[in-house]
Amino acid sequence: MSGMVRNACGSALAEAAEHLRAGRLVAFPTETVYGLGADATNGEAVARIFAAKGRPRFNPLIVHVASLEAARRIGVFSAGAEELARTYWPGPLTLVVERHPDCPVSDLVSAGLPTIAIRVPANRIAAELLKATDRPLAAPSANRSGHVSATEAAHVAADLGGSVAMILDGGATRHGLESTILDVSKDEAVLLRPGAIPKEDLEAHLGRPLHKAANNEAAPSSPGQLESHYAPRALLRLNAASVDDREALLAFGANVPQTAGLTINLSPTGDLIEAAARLFSALRTLDASGAATIAVTPIPMTGLGAAINDRLARAAAPRGN
Ligand code: TXA
Ligand code: MG
Repeated sequence: MSGMVRNACGSALAEAAEHLRAGRLVAFPTETVYGLGADATNGEAVARIFAAKGRPRFNPLIVHVASLEAARRIGVFSAGAEELARTYWPGPLTLVVERHPDCPVSDLVSAGLPTIAIRVPANRIAAELLKATDRPLAAPSANRSGHVSATEAAHVAADLGGSVAMILDGGATRHGLESTILDVSKDEAVLLRPGAIPKEDLEAHLGRPLHKAANNEAAPSSPGQLESHYAPRALLRLNAASVDDREALLAFGANVPQTAGLTINLSPTGDLIEAAARLFSALRTLDASGAATIAVTPIPMTGLGAAINDRLARAAAPRGN
């Protein structure tokens, strides 16, 4: 891909929307930092975000929408969440809410969690892009994993120029700091990540102190370390060469052991992007089959294979810790 930096005029925005609707990646400015955007309803497009960033694991992404009305189609808003959204949107506040039962967003976006992180960005270019694309956009900060967030189009080009279809240039971002993330999916609002809206502002608005996430949750120093990932009920048996008929089978590639049990092949052609896109729904379906064990055939460690294997290893790890 060309990774062209374009001044965000009308025709560039229309082309960017076309790219996104076709499953390609587009980097765009928000009022916080530049985002690496993909159609959140397209699992393979979302998998490309992780491949482009070189993230060693699947941590959940923020979904950007044009309005509170659009947000209500993907998440469940309590009265408290609704009030915060009305006060701070559009703006740099991300709200974690329960996924709507009919949420069309790929489960790779929320890393299999029952919740979803949503915000309505205030940046004009981001707002116009969302309107033109007419899809929710998953967008982490537009930098390679481990690098600092990009606050100018040139930073994005240096880090990700080879993997995006287009970079929309909107100049330097206003805040230069990520959005504040508030989990409002339970009764108590919990601050998951400090950000562009100061904690004190939110506390003054709410009239009470905010609970802070425990260290092993979405701490800013380790945003990928969320421990509340979806854990299957069944045990996972990794690197299986053969399968017992009582086991369910999660397979990859062309050489699949034969079994009478339920089998899902993540990608018969051995495509890791396709496999990543299907991973969470496959785990859920196999788990729901009632099998006590899910056997998993070997998956290569190259590219997105590292993140897929990381996720499977966590699901296979001993429980209760
Ligand atoms: O300012 C921002 O928020 C930027 C711009 C581009 O909007 N985006 C951003 O996204 O910082 P990202 O992917 O770098 O940060 C996403 C973080 C995750 O690491 C996680 O901490 C939290 O959001 N997150 C996402 N979904 C979550 C969920 N369902 N539950 C808890 N935390 C979640
Ligand atoms: Mg980031």
